[in-house]
Amino acid sequence: MSIDYSERIPNNVNLAGDRTLQRALEHWQPKFLDWWKEMGPHDFASAEVYLRTAIGVDAQGWASYGAVKMPDYRWGIFLADAIPDRTIGFGDNYGQPAWQQVPGELRSQFRRIIVTQGDTEPASVEQQHLLGHTCPSLYDLRNLFQVNVEEGRHLWAMVYLLHAYFGRDGREEAEELLARHSGDADKPRILSTFNEPVQDWLSFFMFTYFTDRDGKYQLKALAESGFDPLARSCRFMLTEEAHHMFVGETGVGRVVKRALEVMKELGTDDPAAIRAHGAIDLPTVQRYMNFWFTSSLDLFGSEVSSNAAGSFAAGVKGRPDESQYEDHVCRDATYDLETPNGIETVALRNAMNEVMRTSYVKDCEIGVKRWNMQIQRAGHDLRLSLPSPRFRRGMGAWAGMPVDPLGRIIDRAEYDRRIGEWLPSEADRAFVRSLMQRVAEPGKMAGWIAPPDRGINNLPVEYEYVRLN
Ligand SMILES: [Fe+2]
Ligand SMILES: [Fe+2]
Repeated sequence: MSIDYSERIPNNVNLAGDRTLQRALEHWQPKFLDWWKEMGPHDFASAEVYLRTAIGVDAQGWASYGAVKMPDYRWGIFLADAIPDRTIGFGDNYGQPAWQQVPGELRSQFRRIIVTQGDTEPASVEQQHLLGHTCPSLYDLRNLFQVNVEEGRHLWAMVYLLHAYFGRDGREEAEELLARHSGDADKPRILSTFNEPVQDWLSFFMFTYFTDRDGKYQLKALAESGFDPLARSCRFMLTEEAHHMFVGETGVGRVVKRALEVMKELGTDDPAAIRAHGAIDLPTVQRYMNFWFTSSLDLFGSEVSSNAAGSFAAGVKGRPDESQYEDHVCRDATYDLETPNGIETVALRNAMNEVMRTSYVKDCEIGVKRWNMQIQRAGHDLRLSLPSPRFRRGMGAWAGMPVDPLGRIIDRAEYDRRIGEWLPSEADRAFVRSLMQRVAEPGKMAGWIAPPDRGINNLPVEYEYVRLN
């Protein structure tokens, strides 16, 4: 097989000059394509999609737009530009030169962390496998596919690291990334949120808002890593991740906008009336938020974690935006955790998951504020809100505790009775699914969602973003 590497696989890792890497990729790439055909967007292989492709890391290169058939998408391998003389920014090796190779004693830690990150990327593509059939517009269909191809590229980014730095074990792990599948009974994806079905577009928008944002925070933490190729890969991935969260934030915002329009038209906020009119009522939006936010919180792990402490100490994984802190070593610092038994003071290094989760929650608030501004401007009292991070936790100190969305511990019987009010019921899900009918005429929108304010890359909203052949 002869491949023009720089053309087929855009990269800045000297793929054309690296025989070992070429051999590993030649073996893996056809399996990736088989996986894409089977598990990627169902039934759209011949559609021409207006997509951006990364062909370089500079301002012009990272988003090159054009119509592409997805199986021909050029999944590339990019590291953000090296920072000259970069040093490790945290932990016991603070101030030492960053590693260009994986230190032997940290090999299994790094491999696990790269595999865990890598596993989420194809998982989300699998979760979104069928959504194309019920797109609310061609604009949205294009955004779904953009997210999908970029998650595919993020998989490539992690596979590159496994191939280039982990030898045979790395090659085996790269195969396993294509063998596990979201929701599979025998070989599920590693993290539970990535096994949850995403069967409707409201879930997709919640997923891209909340779960892709977990991705952002994981990538920010890994962008601090002492292992420089990992840090640089993640730094570049973050540029793409921003669009995924934009899709989520504006998607939910447009659902809210449409609900408000219908409320105004009908002169009522009665959910049944809004539903009868083909829009999604705000209490249902709140229940979907409760579900995806709480599920995503568990992705950060337990409040107290010796694993997190070890990763931080060794220089494997830092805190998102490490530069915002003064103490980068944190050897003696402590952290006050709220537990069901009151405040518990723990070593800060052991609380790194909680530090990360707290910055994530703050970031989640920003979009909620914007959604609420719309509601306020429309003259309604209802406000959407993030539930307390203690609510519906499956992991850590609050796991399984009967806590209401405001964070209060309540009677177990009351909790069991009311949990159904706080999460999407089967009837909610069935209703939302009933709205999912494909709209594929340029510029047209499904009745449950408002049009976006603007199109992609300065094109009009009416542009034919996907040509269905
Ligand atoms: Fe990703
Ligand atoms: Fe993403």
